[in-house]
Amino acid sequence: MGLIRNVLLLGSQSVWLRERAMRRPFVRRSVSRFMPGEHLEDALRAAKSLQAQGIGTILTHLGENLVEASEAEEVTRHYLEVLGQIRASGLDTRISVKLTQLGLDFDAALCQKNLLTLVQRAEALGNLVWIDMEGSDYVGRTLEQYRNARLRSAQVGICLQAYLRRTAADLESLLPLGPSVRLVKGAYREPATIAFARKADVDHNFYTLATSFLSARERSPGAFLGIGTHDPRLLRGIEDFVAREQIPPTRLEYEMLYGIQRRLQQELIGAGRPLRVLISYGEFWFPWYMRRLAERPANVLFVARNLLGG
Ligand code: FDA
Repeated sequence: MGLIRNVLLLGSQSVWLRERAMRRPFVRRSVSRFMPGEHLEDALRAAKSLQAQGIGTILTHLGENLVEASEAEEVTRHYLEVLGQIRASGLDTRISVKLTQLGLDFDAALCQKNLLTLVQRAEALGNLVWIDMEGSDYVGRTLEQYRNARLRSAQVGICLQAYLRRTAADLESLLPLGPSVRLVKGAYREPATIAFARKADVDHNFYTLATSFLSARERSPGAFLGIGTHDPRLLRGIEDFVAREQIPPTRLEYEMLYGIQRRLQQELIGAGRPLRVLISYGEFWFPWYMRRLAERPANVLFVARNLLGG
C-alpha cells in the first residue's frame, strides 16, 4: 500500500485532525470538488441537474460510527424524509446508507429495525436502499444485516469490496438471493493478510468478480450489478465482456462518485450506458474526504495548491 495512501487513511480516523481541518476554509473549498454542499437541498439540486443529462443518482448523508440510539434514529428519520422528497420531486435517485449510522456499532437489533424501516419505505415508494460497506471489521455483520433485510424485500442492495480476499466467497454465497450488488475496489486501510495490496491484483479481482457475477445469471435470477469504479481500463474490459456475452442492459449499471472522472461519465452516457452518480452531503465529511484524497495522490497536490491560495 502506498505511503501517502496509508498516511491519509490513518489521518481519516484522527479526531484531532478532523476538528482542525474542518474549520479551515481551504479544506472546505477543496471538499466542494467532491460534494455540491452540506445540505440535502444542495444534493437534490445536483441530482436534478444530473438527471437533465440522463444520469441517475444516489444520495448519501455523510456520517459513521454513531454511538447513541437517538442519533441512529434521527438518521433513519432523515433518510425517510429524503425518500419522500425524492418521490415528490420525481427524481431517479436511490439512497445509500452506512450501517454504523443506523446503530451497528452498539445495537445490532436497533440497526436492523432502522434498516428495515428504510427498506420498507423505499419499497412502498418504488425506491431501493443501498448499504455501503465499511472497514473489514464490519463485513460479516453488514452481510448478516443485508441478508435479513433481503429476505423481506428485494429493494435493498449491498456493496462488496474487490480488495478483500473473502469477497469471492461472499459473492458466491449471496447468489441464491438474486442480489443487487455494488462492486467497488474498497476505500479503507486493510492488512495484506486479508486484502490485496497491489493495485493490479485488486483490479484483476474486480474484473473476475464482476464477470463471474454477470455470468451467473441463470443461477441467480434477478441479480443486478452496480459497477462502482472510475477506472477506464477496467470499465473497457467489462464493457467488452458485456457486449461479447450479450448481458442484458437491465442487469447492470455503472456507478461513480460526484465530481470524479466527469468526462468518462459523459462518455458512458453518450454511449447510452446506464449511469448513476453518488452524491454525498452533510456536515460530517472529514473521514470520507480523506478517503477520497487517499484514492489519488494528485488530489493531495490539489489541496496543497488551495493551501497556497492557487
Ligand atoms: P482507482 O482508485 O484505481 O481510480 C481509477 C481512476 O479514477 C484514477 O486513476 C483517477 O483518474 C480516478 N479517481 C479515482 N478516485 C479518484 C478521486 N478520489 N479523485 C480523483 N480521481 C479519482 N468504498 C468502500 O469501501 N465502501 C463503499 O461502500 C463504497 N461505495 C462506493 C460507491 C460508489 C458509487 C463508488 C463509485 C465508490 C464507492 N467506494 C466505496 C469507493 C471505492 O472503494 C474506491 O475507493 C473508489 O471508487 C476509487 O476507486 P476506483 O475504482 O475509481 O479506481
